[in-house]
Amino acid sequence: MGEARRVVVTGASSGIGEATVRRFREHGWQVVGVARRADRLEALAAATGAETFVADVTSDDDVAALRAHLEATGPVHALVNNAGGARGSDTVEAGSIADWQWMFDVNVLGVKRVVSALLPLLRRGAQQAGSADVLTVTSTAGLQAYAGGGGYNAAKFAAHALVGALRLELKGEPIRVMEVAPGMVHTPEFSLKRLGSSEQAEAVYEGVDHPLTADDVASVIVQALEQPWHVNQDLIVLRPVAQAAQYALHRGPLEVNSELL
Ligand SMILES: NC(=O)c1ccc[n+]([C@@H]2O[C@H](COP(=O)([O-])OP(=O)(O)OC[C@H]3O[C@@H](n4cnc5c(N)ncnc54)[C@H](OP(=O)(O)O)[C@@H]3O)[C@@H](O)[C@H]2O)c1
Repeated sequence: MGEARRVVVTGASSGIGEATVRRFREHGWQVVGVARRADRLEALAAATGAETFVADVTSDDDVAALRAHLEATGPVHALVNNAGGARGSDTVEAGSIADWQWMFDVNVLGVKRVVSALLPLLRRGAQQAGSADVLTVTSTAGLQAYAGGGGYNAAKFAAHALVGALRLELKGEPIRVMEVAPGMVHTPEFSLKRLGSSEQAEAVYEGVDHPLTADDVASVIVQALEQPWHVNQDLIVLRPVAQAAQYALHRGPLEVNSELL
């Protein structure tokens, strides 16, 4: 690689996004980490040498400011749409419209807004460096519905659809469009924000032998972007071994079935 490529990572202030910034920096990329919490971004910048920019992906003005900042400060070769999350685990019948609205705003419209704003910069990056990338973090919740997942399922299914349409629309350009769909990842904030209490959040992972870590997902994201430029991994699904499917989670140690030895 000649001059380092520059990647924008949204949702960089915690969990998967933060781990992705760290890993890209370890691999020598230039990184711009984006999120709303300035204090956490400052600490990440100090620890990793990443650039950071405070923006809310649900705000037109913030995303316009992000684009202007990026344009003024260097090329953009890759975008990782990671900002997102879940609110609530109620039934479709009982779920709050406000929670659903939040999930659509950040997981779907947030991705759309950032893609619309940054694609012109990614095109210029591709012209300069030969190729560019848009990678979106969805979820296995975007591929398989589950009871209590309605709003999050609907939002992540929509994000999955957006990625599929975008790939078709960019046909003929050297811009990869990829999707990483993780199953259960034990990050410090995701379930806490979804369920509201640390007891409920910890119960999600209770007894699960090695849920994915943020760094497991970060490693897959970085590997996908470091494949030869013509290798487009459309959809990468990763889950912990203990989670055979969303509805088939094993709690307890993973052990060889000695009866079958
Ligand atoms: N944890 C899991 O089990 C899991 C599984 C599959 C997929 N995912 C997906 O992976 C992504 C990251 O999840 P995570 O577990 O790392 O969660 P997390 O720790 O809660 O991180 C979410 C990140 O998104 C940022 N964010 C939220 N709303 C934003 C907004 N409006 N504008 C800009 N940034 C915003 C947050 O930063 P600020 O609050 O500072 O803005 C934070 O950095 C999400 O899209 C999530 O849906 C998670």
